[in-house]
Amino acid sequence: MTRNSPATREWPRRASELGNRIPSDFTLGTTTSAFQVEGGARDGGRGESVWDVFTTQPERILDGSNASVSADQMGRLGEDVTLLRELGGDAYRFSFAWPRLQPDGRGGLNRGGIGFYDRLLDELLAAGIRPMATLSHWDTPLALRGGWLNRDTASRFGDYAHEMGRVFGDRLDGWVTLNEPATVMLNGYMRGTHAPGARLLFDALPAGHHQLLAHGLAVQGLRAADVRGQIGIAQAHTPVQPASDREEDGLYAELYDLLHNRLFADAVLLGRYPAVAEPFERELRMLTESDPDDLATIHQPLDFYGLNYSQPSRVAAGPAQSAAPGEPAATDGSAMPAATLPFHLESFREHPLTALGWPNAPEYLGVSLRELRDRYGDALPPVYLTEGGASFADRQDAHGVVDDTLRIDYLAEHLSAALDAVAPGGVAEGVALRGYFVRSLLDGFEWDAGYTQRFGLVWVDFADQSRTPKSSYRWLQKVLAARS
Ligand code: NOJ
Repeated sequence: MTRNSPATREWPRRASELGNRIPSDFTLGTTTSAFQVEGGARDGGRGESVWDVFTTQPERILDGSNASVSADQMGRLGEDVTLLRELGGDAYRFSFAWPRLQPDGRGGLNRGGIGFYDRLLDELLAAGIRPMATLSHWDTPLALRGGWLNRDTASRFGDYAHEMGRVFGDRLDGWVTLNEPATVMLNGYMRGTHAPGARLLFDALPAGHHQLLAHGLAVQGLRAADVRGQIGIAQAHTPVQPASDREEDGLYAELYDLLHNRLFADAVLLGRYPAVAEPFERELRMLTESDPDDLATIHQPLDFYGLNYSQPSRVAAGPAQSAAPGEPAATDGSAMPAATLPFHLESFREHPLTALGWPNAPEYLGVSLRELRDRYGDALPPVYLTEGGASFADRQDAHGVVDDTLRIDYLAEHLSAALDAVAPGGVAEGVALRGYFVRSLLDGFEWDAGYTQRFGLVWVDFADQSRTPKSSYRWLQKVLAARS
């Protein structure tokens, strides 16, 4: 961790220039997740997820919305596959809705759910797009009482993965077990801004451990089903720095790095939890007392490691103060105030902010890759950037055009930063970077921010679910076409 910003440089924005830099074996694709775009909340016997209930509770979602229709990918599958084909990307990362496949979170797979994903996979393959799927992206079946606090949920997930491997194992190129278990623990169980809305502070750690166990069991389940595709996980990483030289800020920065990054990456890649610094021994006791057999299960050989990078974090001791008038708040778009932790994130005044208040800091993507290399060395498998993208205040003009030049700049800079970082002489030279998935193909339901944030390459009109490719879609189309 350092307080000095890494060097920035001019990155190419021109599509042809960028396209020419992308190696031919580098996968460039797009991504979505089931709950954010599918809709069809009651179709085909789908069960409820923790997010369905969360969206019905007062004050949880910024605009009071829910995802029962969302972008209606279920009803517009053909149109979305046409958008993907015309874009020309190599791959599409989507997620299976666990409650669509196992409405009760257990047992044989639901035929209604299988039918939808059969169609999706067949259409993708016919369009020449390689499918990568996440087994569950936050939409845990409500029927699994206690959610990730309950150890049994990990076993249920392992069984689900095995069933899914048996049914879909011949058609997927890539499997992601879980998406950002750190975010689920921090926002869903610690701070309470995401489903299921628990505000357990440090008592939330079992929700992290059980997700990790679920990941390990799922890898075993997929391997036992002899799936053809590569297997990995998608983890949220943020380079962390202290807000000042004060010792306290340093300690809390270390703690945040542990909770957000190391806890999850060390367990998966090294089969152990990170060492706990003295002042936090009591809060983090669970880590030091973990069963070595669990850690052995979590530590499965992986074919790839998925990195979701969005922003660096600057951490200060003490609970958050509300931002002074006119000052940017370090926001995550939450509707409800989060539970009070003994530290808070400060905003990065030196960087422009995205619509969600994230500092737009492409140079820290290289820092994240470097940290992975330096911390895990040979234990780090090839890496995919399983999500990269941001929300901006997009507007559709009177002619229906959405000219999202800020998103073009963002993507050009982040993609270039990633390629630079792993190139000879780059800050993360030696990392086997295999691809980048732009988030998102479509505007969709943005969790606790509802429909107030747009991440798509394609504009979705949520009144009638019609789609309009934005300028960034046309730009990415050119980047993809310009690859040598
Ligand atoms: C990462 C998550 O995987 C994705 O679902 C979410 O929409 C973005 N972060 C933005 O918060």
